[in-house]
Amino acid sequence: MSEKQRTYSTFNYDAHARTCAPEDFLGQVRRTVNGVPLGDDQLGLIKQAMAAGLSLEPDDVLLELACGNGALSQCLFASCKGYLGIDVSEYLVSVAQQHFERAPTHRFLAQGGVAYVREETEPARFSKVLCYAGFQYFPDGEAAEILAALHTKFTRVGRIFIGNLPDKDQAAKFYRDRTPSAEELADPTTAVGIWRTRPEFSALAAAAGWKITLSTMPPTFQPAYYRYDAVLSR
Ligand SMILES: C[S@@+](CC[C@H](N)C(=O)[O-])C[C@H]1O[C@@H](n2cnc3c(N)ncnc32)[C@H](O)[C@@H]1O
Repeated sequence: MSEKQRTYSTFNYDAHARTCAPEDFLGQVRRTVNGVPLGDDQLGLIKQAMAAGLSLEPDDVLLELACGNGALSQCLFASCKGYLGIDVSEYLVSVAQQHFERAPTHRFLAQGGVAYVREETEPARFSKVLCYAGFQYFPDGEAAEILAALHTKFTRVGRIFIGNLPDKDQAAKFYRDRTPSAEELADPTTAVGIWRTRPEFSALAAAAGWKITLSTMPPTFQPAYYRYDAVLSR
């Protein structure tokens, strides 16, 4: 859609993060409510969900897609023997490398999701995959290709945790003062990304060969009313 036709705003994480202070790790990935950084209680709920969703064991090697600046990722480092985080934002990855990388075992790489899964030459090193608050920025075709590649090429991956997905059936509760168009809800370049219903996401994952378990965060998690999480297994 051309700029002229579009009636809603788009958003770019890399450009946004560059406007934040170098150590404003929460602001850089918009982990804020009305501009105020998320509190420890909310962050704690996210960390608990990631821990439960991944069930990491000491021998696990974790791949994270759309890892952002690595501020959340590093909380998982002590629970796995290896880690690679990839993100399309060169700036956010540079922040991750500067502050959180623990080479040679726990590293970050600037690359888009679909290019990465196509080009990875040692996919069998990974046993689990995380994608938190990031999957909704993959267009449908890329999302399908990534899930299929994780199933067929990343043969040792037995569990994937995909978190913080916007639920299209709940979009009206989020957009209280206006009704977004179907195009906006399906546009991965908006600030929220693509809104998918639970059945739509389940169909996407099932088409790639995955079994799916969906869950909702506790009601004390502020975005719980319009988000859901997914664990994929073989
Ligand atoms: C809301 S942030 C989440 C970052 C991190 N997972 C977290 O929870 O802190 C969304 C991230 O998705 C990344 N992203 C968007 N499109 C992407 C793509 N095609 N491939 C890889 N990363 C992408 C953005 O650069 C951004 O870092």
